[in-house]
Amino acid sequence: MTQSPQTPHPERTQLRIGPHTVQPPVVLAPMAGITNAPFRTLCREFSGGRGLFVSEMITTRALVERDAKTMRLIHFDGTEKPRSIQLYGVDPGTVGKAVQMIVDEDLADHIDLNFGCPVPKVTRKGGGSALPYKRHLLRSILREAVTAAGPLPVTMKMRKGIDDDHITYLDAGRIAVEEGVTAIALHGRTAAQHYGGTADWESIARLKEAVPEIPVLGNGDIWSADDAVRMMRETGCDGVVVGRGCLGRPWLFGDLVAAFEPGGGAPVYARPTLKEVAAVMRRHAELLAEWLEDEERGVIDFRKHVAWYTKGFSVGSEMRKRLAITSSLAELDALLAELDLDQEWPPGADGPRGRTSGRNRVVLPDGWLDDPYDRAGVGADAEQDTSGG
Ligand SMILES: Cc1cc2nc3c(=O)[nH]c(=O)nc-3n(C[C@H](O)[C@H](O)[C@H](O)COP(=O)(O)O)c2cc1C
Repeated sequence: MTQSPQTPHPERTQLRIGPHTVQPPVVLAPMAGITNAPFRTLCREFSGGRGLFVSEMITTRALVERDAKTMRLIHFDGTEKPRSIQLYGVDPGTVGKAVQMIVDEDLADHIDLNFGCPVPKVTRKGGGSALPYKRHLLRSILREAVTAAGPLPVTMKMRKGIDDDHITYLDAGRIAVEEGVTAIALHGRTAAQHYGGTADWESIARLKEAVPEIPVLGNGDIWSADDAVRMMRETGCDGVVVGRGCLGRPWLFGDLVAAFEPGGGAPVYARPTLKEVAAVMRRHAELLAEWLEDEERGVIDFRKHVAWYTKGFSVGSEMRKRLAITSSLAELDALLAELDLDQEWPPGADGPRGRTSGRNRVVLPDGWLDDPYDRAGVGADAEQDTSGG
């Protein structure tokens, strides 16, 4: 790929998640529907296997019930180490059982717990990013998870809070430390912000001060490897979690590795031509087809990635539409061959991608905000696998 020199990076930082050293300290954010085994494979190929790559979110109830789709989601290819699973659960007992199952059946090497989902149908029931407001419930879930995990490291990922008047991350951070959580990732937005505005990196610095005992991972609005380095410098965080910046750009992981490489002058970053992007698209679709053991389903699942991969290139709306309705690899090949493949990487393709919209109000159960210290529980129907973070 054509490369362009960028600004040099800071000192070498070592991130430790329990027994695992993550070097460079970069983590692929869990993204429901995206960070399945094929996408993680692509990112790992570009990073030379360095970094940490978290699975899609797995709901604890579905795992305990051995739901067939969930069992596929927790598949790791034999070369993935450490195997990192993100769980989402609202009931301490079920979370404990799910973690116990992971330990007993050797399904993963690291467990991340998701408390960041802002989706109304989840927060309406008190789940996702509404849950940390209930300090006792949060503590119980973390305690069950850490106890069942034994030597496996348990980390948590959360948002700043529900909205600016109901900030939870500092309390949640202290509770996490007290309950033996190994590291915390903070997305610097409230649930009310959804994906709108800009992430508040200052909150990441505040969390770092509040929980000096364990690593803090910063998350939100890292669109380039330079952003990752800047977040670490500005906030003092121990590592970064990169989500939307990787959508249709798995080679960003190569850039991240380069940015954190010590010495050796300015890192060189990938600036793929459309021809190179098309080759990655083809590989992504092929990996999905293999993983799903069904070419048509794999190519159909790949459709959602087309707009991200082709962002900024002059492809034409008609061709984008045709690419987004392909259902076989041969069809995909034929369409990719019709593109003007000599195009250089367009400057318009840098910067924000994926969801960027905001929201005003977080839907919560009646009376949810009355008492952060009550013993409220959350119904099992707050666990939905479409949720995300
Ligand atoms: C499509 C999509 C799916 C997501 N799914 C999850 C998820 O399953 N678990 C989670 O903790 N966060 C999830 N997130 C949130 C991301 O992990 C991340 O916190 C968020 O996108 C902010 O980081 P970014 O600015 O680097 O994208 C999702 C985000 C997106 C865009």
